[in-house]
Amino acid sequence: MPDPAAVNSMFGRIARRYDLANRLLSGGIDLWWRYRLVRAVKKQKPETITDLATGSGDVAFALCKALPPETEITGMDFCQPMLDQAEKKKQAKEAATYAKISFFLGDAMAIPLPDNSTDAVTISFGLRNIADRNQALCEMHRILKKEGGRLFVLEFSQPYPWFRPFYFFYLKHILPSIAALCTGDKSAYDYLCGSIEEFPNRNAISLEIQAAGFSKTQAIPLMLGSVALHIADV
Ligand SMILES: C[S@@+](CC[C@H](N)C(=O)[O-])C[C@H]1O[C@@H](n2cnc3c(N)ncnc32)[C@H](O)[C@@H]1O
Repeated sequence: MPDPAAVNSMFGRIARRYDLANRLLSGGIDLWWRYRLVRAVKKQKPETITDLATGSGDVAFALCKALPPETEITGMDFCQPMLDQAEKKKQAKEAATYAKISFFLGDAMAIPLPDNSTDAVTISFGLRNIADRNQALCEMHRILKKEGGRLFVLEFSQPYPWFRPFYFFYLKHILPSIAALCTGDKSAYDYLCGSIEEFPNRNAISLEIQAAGFSKTQAIPLMLGSVALHIADV
């Protein structure tokens, strides 16, 4: 179980180089994964969206660009330096389009929002880093509207068996070195690789989502199963 203080401090250390590291380490494919999430959210036509563990805000910005202008989007994270990056990016973007996004500090295990208050909850590459997943998933269920509320989780998963040796070779032997060059913090990426390797597969995560009260869960494998998009109704 990740230690929240250590996770917070680690993201604080890499916040300034987080986006660059993402693009380099995934070869830009991370943009496609987030696009798949946004496309699924768009189909739901939500009026209010809460993006948890928003980090530097990429999902919030992509949602804002893709959804109608009246959609209210809030991005929440417990790491202030990551939110600072999100705010900085927001200031640099076209004010009229992105003004409707608000970023705020908060813990996904105790979300500072009322019950039944949001149509969609999104969380991209955040669930893996949360100390108590069940607690966080129950919180997501609590804040979602009981009429039509929907959860979207984008997260690393366990790849198809034949792809595992190549994937884990890259994760263990190549990725940390590129990350060290890019962020100057190899230990952060050693942690991230370990957390990806230990993370449960799609079926186990679907069961965890159901255990938190969600129904109609589906898990869509992306990139040979190494990433999954989970969608669940309240
Ligand atoms: C890998 S980043 C993902 C950022 C962003 N969603 C993305 O797709 O790039 C994980 C984020 O989870 C946040 N996080 C981890 N535990 C959290 C918690 N309990 N509450 C809120 N945010 C948390 C970290 O601060 C970090 O910004």
